Amino acid sequence: MAACAKTLSIEEPTLTEEWTVVLSRGRKHRRYFLKTETPKQQQPQPWVPVDVEINPKRELKLMQRMQNSIKRVESSQFYHSFLDQIQMLDGFPRVLGSELMMQVVIYGIGNIEGSESSRLQLSLAILMKRRFSWIGNMEVFDPVLSATECRVLEALGCTVLMVNEHGRRQALKPTLFFMPHCEAELYNNLLQANRDAKLLNNVVLFGNSFRAYEQIVVDFKPPNIVNSSQHIMAVQRFTNEFKIYKSLKDNFEAFNEQSWHFFNPEDDTVLYRIDK
Ligand SMILES: C[S@@+](CC[C@H](N)C(=O)[O-])C[C@H]1O[C@@H](n2cnc3c(N)ncnc32)[C@H](O)[C@@H]1O
Repeated sequence: MAACAKTLSIEEPTLTEEWTVVLSRGRKHRRYFLKTETPKQQQPQPWVPVDVEINPKRELKLMQRMQNSIKRVESSQFYHSFLDQIQMLDGFPRVLGSELMMQVVIYGIGNIEGSESSRLQLSLAILMKRRFSWIGNMEVFDPVLSATECRVLEALGCTVLMVNEHGRRQALKPTLFFMPHCEAELYNNLLQANRDAKLLNNVVLFGNSFRAYEQIVVDFKPPNIVNSSQHIMAVQRFTNEFKIYKSLKDNFEAFNEQSWHFFNPEDDTVLYRIDK
């Protein structure tokens, strides 16, 4: 499908880093060292929509489409299996710990005005918030959002970020990153920003299957994916991945190949970064 195909076509990775694996003296565990050759890390940038039109008719039409999409997801077999799966996964209470709320950061939702997949994905996030009292504030960012889309997102209870974080939000508290069909680079940036065990323990990630990336890297070694998935590969050993159930009845391409990812870094595991 189009979004997945896009995921496999990153041409310009921003990081050119190299992982080496070494065994610490006197320890059973392997430790992962990241060598950075050219630290070209993007900084957060203020952002405003390119399309700034404010048009009440356009907003109303989009709101109606969102309401239809929410109804469609809510009445699907897929959604009910999705809720059952969340209730069965012990990763959610583990990440929450003693906290009452898990904030949500939605990156890469796409154009909700122009894409049915984006509307369905956003509907799923909104329904999760309505269903679970422990789901907190939902922040949304995608550089392609228009002013109309931002207004509708706010009306639906989301907060639109006015800064491009390049996916580098640090999870200082329990955070669900909802990132359906994003580019490998965005997951990679997120993992790089959270490569400390304390931060990684606060992360729940919904998005493209990391196992699938690993398979692609091992089997085909496409340079664009290899270069933009080093952190994805490095965290594989502490990642618990659960594919979401797909119902044969509902043909939601919007949720193809999506998984829940939880991370269990061992207490003494540190991902070292060696800058040249
Ligand atoms: C492959 S598309 C997926 C869109 C949608 N989720 C879907 O499945 O159709 C990836 C999205 O990531 C967005 N994106 C790119 N850089 C981003 C960033 N720094 N922060 C958030 N989103 C970003 C792109 O604009 C694009 O909409």
